[in-house]
Amino acid sequence: RTEPLVLGIESSCDETGVGIVRGNTLLANAVSSSMEEHVRFGGVIPEIASRAHLDAFVPTLRQALEEAGVTLDEVDAIAVTSGPGLAGALMVGVCAAKALALATGKPLYAINHLVAHVGVGVLDGGELPENLGALLVSGGHTEILRVRTLTSDVELLGSTIDDAAGEAYDKVARILGLGYPGGPAIDKLAREGNPKAIRFPRGLTQPKYMGSAEVPGPHRYDWSFSGLKTAVARCVEQYEAAGQEPPVADIAASFQEAVVDVITAKAVLACTEHGITNLLLGGGVAANSRLRELTAERCAAAGISLRVPPIRLCTDNGAMVAALGAQVVMAGGEPSGVAFTPDPSQP
Ligand code: KG4
Ligand code: ZN
Repeated sequence: RTEPLVLGIESSCDETGVGIVRGNTLLANAVSSSMEEHVRFGGVIPEIASRAHLDAFVPTLRQALEEAGVTLDEVDAIAVTSGPGLAGALMVGVCAAKALALATGKPLYAINHLVAHVGVGVLDGGELPENLGALLVSGGHTEILRVRTLTSDVELLGSTIDDAAGEAYDKVARILGLGYPGGPAIDKLAREGNPKAIRFPRGLTQPKYMGSAEVPGPHRYDWSFSGLKTAVARCVEQYEAAGQEPPVADIAASFQEAVVDVITAKAVLACTEHGITNLLLGGGVAANSRLRELTAERCAAAGISLRVPPIRLCTDNGAMVAALGAQVVMAGGEPSGVAFTPDPSQP
Protein backbone atom coordinates (compact mmCIF):
# COMPACT_ATOMS: atom_id res chain seq x y z
CA ARG A 1 0.00 0.00 0.00
CA THR A 2 1.35 3.41 -0.90
CA GLU A 3 1.97 5.91 1.86
CA PRO A 4 -0.89 8.33 2.55
CA LEU A 5 -0.77 11.91 1.25
CA VAL A 6 -1.86 14.01 4.23
CA LEU A 7 -2.58 17.72 4.47
CA GLY A 8 -2.11 19.24 7.95
CA ILE A 9 -3.53 22.52 9.26
CA GLU A 10 -2.20 24.43 12.28
CA SER A 11 -3.77 27.57 13.80
CA SER A 12 -3.42 27.23 17.58
CA CYS A 13 -1.49 30.46 18.16
CA ASP A 14 -0.10 33.09 15.79
CA GLU A 15 1.15 30.81 12.99
CA THR A 16 -1.14 29.76 10.16
CA GLY A 17 0.43 26.57 8.87
CA VAL A 18 -0.45 24.20 6.06
CA GLY A 19 1.87 21.25 5.55
CA ILE A 20 1.76 18.28 3.24
CA VAL A 21 3.50 14.95 3.79
CA ARG A 22 3.56 11.56 2.11
CA GLY A 23 4.01 9.09 4.92
CA ASN A 24 7.20 10.24 6.66
CA THR A 25 8.31 12.46 3.79
CA LEU A 26 7.90 16.23 3.92
CA LEU A 27 6.48 17.72 0.69
CA ALA A 28 5.46 21.21 1.78
CA ASN A 29 5.49 23.42 4.86
CA ALA A 30 3.85 26.81 4.24
CA VAL A 31 3.68 29.09 7.29
CA SER A 32 2.30 32.59 7.67
CA SER A 33 2.78 34.37 11.00
CA SER A 34 0.88 37.31 12.50
CA MET A 35 3.78 37.97 14.91
CA GLU A 36 4.40 41.44 13.44
CA GLU A 37 0.85 42.51 14.31
CA HIS A 38 1.36 41.56 17.97
CA VAL A 39 4.73 43.24 18.49
CA ARG A 40 3.35 46.60 19.63
CA PHE A 41 1.21 44.85 22.27
CA GLY A 42 4.15 42.84 23.62
CA GLY A 43 2.30 39.53 23.28
CA VAL A 44 -0.14 37.61 21.12
CA ILE A 45 -3.61 39.21 21.04
CA PRO A 46 -6.09 36.34 20.45
CA GLU A 47 -8.62 38.38 18.45
CA ILE A 48 -5.92 39.66 16.11
CA ALA A 49 -4.47 36.15 15.71
CA SER A 50 -7.92 34.75 14.78
CA ARG A 51 -8.53 37.42 12.15
CA ALA A 52 -5.05 36.90 10.73
CA HIS A 53 -5.70 33.14 10.38
CA LEU A 54 -8.84 33.93 8.40
CA ASP A 55 -6.85 36.17 6.04
CA ALA A 56 -3.90 33.83 5.71
CA PHE A 57 -5.55 30.45 5.40
CA VAL A 58 -6.41 30.28 1.70
CA PRO A 59 -3.10 31.78 0.46
CA THR A 60 -1.16 29.45 2.78
CA LEU A 61 -3.14 26.44 1.54
CA ARG A 62 -2.48 27.43 -2.09
CA GLN A 63 1.22 27.88 -1.36
CA ALA A 64 1.48 24.44 0.28
CA LEU A 65 -0.29 22.69 -2.61
CA GLU A 66 1.97 24.43 -5.10
CA GLU A 67 5.12 23.64 -3.09
CA ALA A 68 4.13 19.95 -2.91
CA GLY A 69 3.00 19.86 -6.55
CA VAL A 70 -0.26 18.14 -5.66
CA THR A 71 -3.96 18.98 -5.96
CA LEU A 72 -6.52 18.82 -3.17
CA ASP A 73 -8.11 15.90 -5.05
CA GLU A 74 -4.98 13.78 -4.62
CA VAL A 75 -4.87 14.25 -0.83
CA ASP A 76 -5.87 11.12 1.11
CA ALA A 77 -6.64 12.72 4.47
CA ILE A 78 -6.87 16.08 6.22
CA ALA A 79 -5.46 16.63 9.73
CA VAL A 80 -6.02 19.67 11.90
CA THR A 81 -4.88 20.88 15.33
CA SER A 82 -7.86 20.62 17.68
CA GLY A 83 -6.01 21.86 20.81
CA PRO A 84 -4.49 22.99 23.03
CA GLY A 85 -4.29 26.63 21.98
CA LEU A 86 -6.23 29.88 21.71
CA ALA A 87 -9.95 29.10 21.30
CA GLY A 88 -10.70 31.57 18.52
CA ALA A 89 -7.50 30.77 16.66
CA LEU A 90 -8.17 27.01 16.81
CA MET A 91 -11.71 27.56 15.56
CA VAL A 92 -10.51 29.16 12.32
CA GLY A 93 -8.29 26.18 11.45
CA VAL A 94 -10.88 23.62 12.51
CA CYS A 95 -13.65 25.35 10.50
CA ALA A 96 -11.39 25.52 7.46
CA ALA A 97 -10.49 21.84 7.83
CA LYS A 98 -14.12 20.79 8.21
CA ALA A 99 -15.11 22.83 5.15
CA LEU A 100 -12.34 21.18 3.11
CA ALA A 101 -13.29 17.71 4.36
CA LEU A 102 -16.97 18.23 3.57
CA ALA A 103 -16.27 19.70 0.14
CA THR A 104 -13.81 16.98 -0.89
CA GLY A 105 -15.19 13.97 0.99
CA LYS A 106 -11.74 13.31 2.52
CA PRO A 107 -11.48 11.87 6.05
CA LEU A 108 -10.65 14.40 8.77
CA TYR A 109 -8.38 13.75 11.78
CA ALA A 110 -8.28 15.95 14.91
CA ILE A 111 -4.69 16.24 16.14
CA ASN A 112 -3.19 17.16 19.53
CA HIS A 113 -0.79 20.05 18.98
CA LEU A 114 1.71 18.90 21.61
CA VAL A 115 1.93 15.36 20.30
CA ALA A 116 2.37 16.83 16.81
CA HIS A 117 5.49 18.63 18.09
CA VAL A 118 6.84 15.12 18.77
CA GLY A 119 5.42 13.50 15.63
CA VAL A 120 7.26 15.97 13.43
CA GLY A 121 10.41 14.04 14.33
CA VAL A 122 9.56 11.39 11.69
CA LEU A 123 10.12 13.98 8.94
CA ASP A 124 13.74 14.35 9.98
CA GLY A 125 15.42 10.99 10.49
CA GLY A 126 12.42 8.69 9.95
CA GLU A 127 10.55 6.50 12.42
CA LEU A 128 10.95 7.56 16.04
CA PRO A 129 12.76 5.16 18.35
CA GLU A 130 10.86 3.27 21.02
CA ASN A 131 11.37 4.39 24.58
CA LEU A 132 11.27 8.03 23.57
CA GLY A 133 11.15 11.13 25.75
CA ALA A 134 10.09 14.50 24.35
CA LEU A 135 11.10 17.85 25.80
CA LEU A 136 8.76 20.53 24.43
CA VAL A 137 9.72 24.11 25.18
CA SER A 138 7.82 27.01 23.64
CA GLY A 139 5.89 30.17 24.39
CA GLY A 140 2.85 28.11 25.35
CA HIS A 141 4.29 24.93 26.83
CA THR A 142 7.18 23.44 28.78
CA GLU A 143 6.71 19.71 29.16
CA ILE A 144 8.57 16.44 29.39
CA LEU A 145 6.62 13.57 27.83
CA ARG A 146 7.13 9.85 27.67
CA VAL A 147 6.09 8.57 24.25
CA ARG A 148 5.48 4.83 24.17
CA THR A 149 3.35 4.93 21.02
CA LEU A 150 2.99 8.21 19.18
CA THR A 151 -0.61 7.58 18.19
CA SER A 152 -1.99 6.19 21.42
CA ASP A 153 0.30 6.18 24.44
CA VAL A 154 1.80 9.50 25.46
CA GLU A 155 2.31 10.26 29.15
CA LEU A 156 3.02 13.63 30.74
CA LEU A 157 5.92 13.24 33.18
CA GLY A 158 6.36 16.89 34.10
CA SER A 159 5.42 20.42 33.05
CA THR A 160 5.57 24.04 34.12
CA ILE A 161 3.19 24.92 36.92
CA ASP A 162 3.03 28.59 35.88
CA ASP A 163 4.71 30.35 32.93
CA ALA A 164 6.05 28.49 29.91
CA ALA A 165 9.79 28.99 29.35
CA GLY A 166 9.24 31.08 26.19
CA GLU A 167 6.76 33.21 28.11
CA ALA A 168 9.42 33.79 30.79
CA TYR A 169 11.87 34.86 28.06
CA ASP A 170 9.27 37.26 26.67
CA LYS A 171 8.46 38.75 30.10
CA VAL A 172 12.11 39.14 31.10
CA ALA A 173 12.88 40.73 27.73
CA ARG A 174 10.17 43.27 28.47
CA ILE A 175 11.71 44.00 31.89
CA LEU A 176 15.10 44.49 30.22
CA GLY A 177 13.54 46.68 27.50
CA LEU A 178 14.44 44.28 24.68
CA GLY A 179 11.08 44.13 22.88
CA TYR A 180 8.99 41.19 21.70
CA PRO A 181 9.47 38.32 21.04
CA GLY A 182 12.06 38.19 23.78
CA GLY A 183 13.63 34.79 23.23
CA PRO A 184 15.87 35.59 20.27
CA ALA A 185 16.83 39.00 21.79
CA ILE A 186 17.93 37.47 25.13
CA ASP A 187 19.71 34.61 23.36
CA LYS A 188 21.77 37.16 21.39
CA LEU A 189 22.46 39.56 24.27
CA ALA A 190 23.39 36.68 26.59
CA ARG A 191 26.42 35.93 24.40
CA GLU A 192 27.95 39.20 25.60
CA GLY A 193 27.20 38.56 29.27
CA ASN A 194 28.51 36.40 32.10
CA PRO A 195 26.08 33.57 32.91
CA LYS A 196 27.60 33.28 36.39
CA ALA A 197 27.28 37.00 37.22
CA ILE A 198 24.02 36.58 39.15
CA ARG A 199 22.73 33.40 40.73
CA PHE A 200 19.01 33.43 39.85
CA PRO A 201 16.69 30.86 41.48
CA ARG A 202 16.05 27.42 39.95
CA GLY A 203 12.34 26.89 40.69
CA LEU A 204 11.01 23.70 42.33
CA THR A 205 14.46 22.28 43.06
CA GLN A 206 14.24 22.39 46.87
CA PRO A 207 14.16 18.93 48.54
CA LYS A 208 10.45 19.20 49.46
CA TYR A 209 9.57 19.43 45.76
CA MET A 210 12.12 16.90 44.56
CA GLY A 211 11.76 14.07 47.07
CA SER A 212 13.85 11.13 45.85
CA ALA A 213 13.84 8.72 42.93
CA GLU A 214 12.03 6.17 45.15
CA VAL A 215 9.56 8.64 46.66
CA PRO A 216 9.27 11.52 44.17
CA GLY A 217 8.24 14.89 45.57
CA PRO A 218 5.10 16.59 44.20
CA HIS A 219 7.07 18.50 41.56
CA ARG A 220 10.16 16.38 40.94
CA TYR A 221 9.88 16.75 37.16
CA ASP A 222 7.99 20.07 37.08
CA TRP A 223 9.20 23.60 36.46
CA SER A 224 8.26 27.05 37.72
CA PHE A 225 9.48 30.24 36.07
CA SER A 226 7.40 32.96 37.72
CA GLY A 227 9.77 33.31 40.71
CA LEU A 228 12.69 33.67 38.33
CA LYS A 229 10.91 36.42 36.42
CA THR A 230 10.24 38.24 39.71
CA ALA A 231 13.88 37.82 40.75
CA VAL A 232 15.00 39.47 37.51
CA ALA A 233 12.57 42.36 38.07
CA ARG A 234 13.87 42.85 41.66
CA CYS A 235 17.45 42.77 40.43
CA VAL A 236 16.78 45.51 37.84
CA GLU A 237 14.91 47.59 40.45
CA GLN A 238 17.84 47.38 42.86
CA TYR A 239 20.25 48.78 40.27
CA GLU A 240 17.80 51.53 39.36
CA ALA A 241 17.17 52.44 43.01
CA ALA A 242 20.92 52.82 43.43
CA GLY A 243 20.99 55.11 40.39
CA GLN A 244 23.00 52.58 38.35
CA GLU A 245 22.48 51.15 34.88
CA PRO A 246 21.56 47.46 35.22
CA PRO A 247 24.14 45.20 33.51
CA VAL A 248 21.60 43.87 31.01
CA ALA A 249 23.93 41.45 29.22
CA ASP A 250 24.95 39.80 32.52
CA ILE A 251 21.32 39.68 33.64
CA ALA A 252 20.24 38.15 30.29
CA ALA A 253 23.03 35.55 30.42
CA SER A 254 22.36 34.69 34.08
CA PHE A 255 18.60 34.44 33.48
CA GLN A 256 19.14 32.21 30.46
CA GLU A 257 21.52 29.99 32.41
CA ALA A 258 18.93 29.55 35.19
CA VAL A 259 16.18 28.61 32.69
CA VAL A 260 18.30 26.25 30.64
CA ASP A 261 19.97 24.65 33.68
CA VAL A 262 16.71 23.71 35.35
CA ILE A 263 14.99 22.63 32.13
CA THR A 264 17.78 20.29 31.08
CA ALA A 265 18.51 18.98 34.60
CA LYS A 266 14.90 17.95 35.20
CA ALA A 267 14.35 16.58 31.69
CA VAL A 268 17.44 14.38 31.91
CA LEU A 269 16.45 13.29 35.44
CA ALA A 270 12.96 12.28 34.23
CA CYS A 271 14.47 10.31 31.34
CA THR A 272 17.09 8.58 33.49
CA GLU A 273 14.58 7.58 36.17
CA HIS A 274 12.13 6.23 33.58
CA GLY A 275 14.73 4.30 31.61
CA ILE A 276 14.27 6.58 28.60
CA THR A 277 17.29 6.46 26.30
CA ASN A 278 16.15 8.72 23.44
CA LEU A 279 15.09 12.34 23.72
CA LEU A 280 13.49 14.63 21.15
CA LEU A 281 13.74 18.40 21.70
CA GLY A 282 10.97 20.55 20.19
CA GLY A 283 9.05 23.85 20.42
CA GLY A 284 10.12 27.39 19.53
CA VAL A 285 12.63 27.70 22.38
CA ALA A 286 14.56 24.77 20.82
CA ALA A 287 16.01 27.58 18.68
CA ASN A 288 17.89 28.76 21.78
CA SER A 289 21.62 28.20 21.39
CA ARG A 290 22.32 27.55 25.07
CA LEU A 291 19.38 25.14 25.43
CA ARG A 292 20.61 23.11 22.48
CA GLU A 293 24.15 23.10 23.81
CA LEU A 294 23.38 22.10 27.41
CA THR A 295 20.74 19.53 26.38
CA ALA A 296 23.29 17.87 24.09
CA GLU A 297 25.96 17.96 26.80
CA ARG A 298 23.78 16.50 29.56
CA CYS A 299 22.17 13.89 27.29
CA ALA A 300 25.60 12.70 26.20
CA ALA A 301 26.72 12.44 29.83
CA ALA A 302 23.59 10.42 30.71
CA GLY A 303 23.82 8.11 27.67
CA ILE A 304 20.66 9.53 26.10
CA SER A 305 20.64 9.93 22.35
CA LEU A 306 19.21 13.30 21.33
CA ARG A 307 17.20 14.32 18.27
CA VAL A 308 16.59 17.98 17.45
CA PRO A 309 14.54 18.59 14.28
CA PRO A 310 15.42 21.68 12.21
CA ILE A 311 14.02 24.88 13.70
CA ARG A 312 11.38 25.46 11.02
CA LEU A 313 9.89 22.12 12.11
CA CYS A 314 10.27 22.95 15.85
CA THR A 315 8.25 26.17 15.74
CA ASP A 316 4.51 25.88 15.10
CA ASN A 317 3.76 24.66 11.57
CA GLY A 318 1.34 22.55 9.53
CA ALA A 319 3.85 19.86 8.56
CA MET A 320 3.93 18.57 12.15
CA VAL A 321 0.15 18.17 12.08
CA ALA A 322 0.33 16.38 8.72
CA ALA A 323 3.15 14.16 10.01
CA LEU A 324 1.21 13.01 13.06
CA GLY A 325 -1.94 12.70 10.90
CA ALA A 326 -0.08 10.36 8.55
CA GLN A 327 1.11 8.29 11.54
CA VAL A 328 -2.51 7.97 12.71
CA VAL A 329 -3.70 6.99 9.20
CA MET A 330 -0.89 4.42 8.85
CA ALA A 331 -1.72 2.98 12.30
CA GLY A 332 -5.31 2.46 11.09
CA GLY A 333 -6.77 5.18 13.33
CA GLU A 334 -10.42 6.19 12.95
CA PRO A 335 -11.17 9.60 11.41
CA SER A 336 -12.67 12.15 13.81
CA GLY A 337 -15.65 13.07 11.61
CA VAL A 338 -16.74 16.69 11.41
CA ALA A 339 -18.70 16.96 14.66
CA PHE A 340 -15.79 17.67 17.07
CA THR A 341 -15.08 21.09 18.56
CA PRO A 342 -11.62 22.46 19.35
CA ASP A 343 -10.44 22.01 22.93
CA PRO A 344 -8.28 25.00 24.02
CA SER A 345 -7.09 23.15 27.15
CA GLN A 346 -6.65 19.69 25.58
CA PRO A 347 -4.21 17.81 27.84
O1 KG4 B 1 6.82 27.24 19.36
P1 KG4 B 1 6.67 28.72 19.18
O2 KG4 B 1 6.99 29.28 17.82
O3 KG4 B 1 5.20 29.15 19.50
C1 KG4 B 1 4.50 28.72 20.63
O4 KG4 B 1 4.66 29.37 21.67
O5 KG4 B 1 3.79 27.68 20.53
O6 KG4 B 1 7.56 29.43 20.31
C2 KG4 B 1 7.63 30.82 20.45
C3 KG4 B 1 8.45 31.13 21.68
C4 KG4 B 1 8.47 32.61 22.05
O7 KG4 B 1 8.17 32.74 23.44
C5 KG4 B 1 9.90 33.04 21.76
O8 KG4 B 1 10.35 34.07 22.61
C6 KG4 B 1 10.65 31.75 21.99
O9 KG4 B 1 9.81 30.73 21.47
N1 KG4 B 1 11.95 31.72 21.28
C7 KG4 B 1 13.15 31.66 21.91
C8 KG4 B 1 14.14 31.70 20.89
N2 KG4 B 1 13.51 31.78 19.68
C9 KG4 B 1 12.17 31.78 19.94
N3 KG4 B 1 13.45 31.58 23.21
C10 KG4 B 1 14.75 31.54 23.54
N4 KG4 B 1 15.76 31.59 22.65
C11 KG4 B 1 15.51 31.67 21.32
N5 KG4 B 1 16.52 31.72 20.45
ZN1 ZN C 1 3.56 24.77 19.70
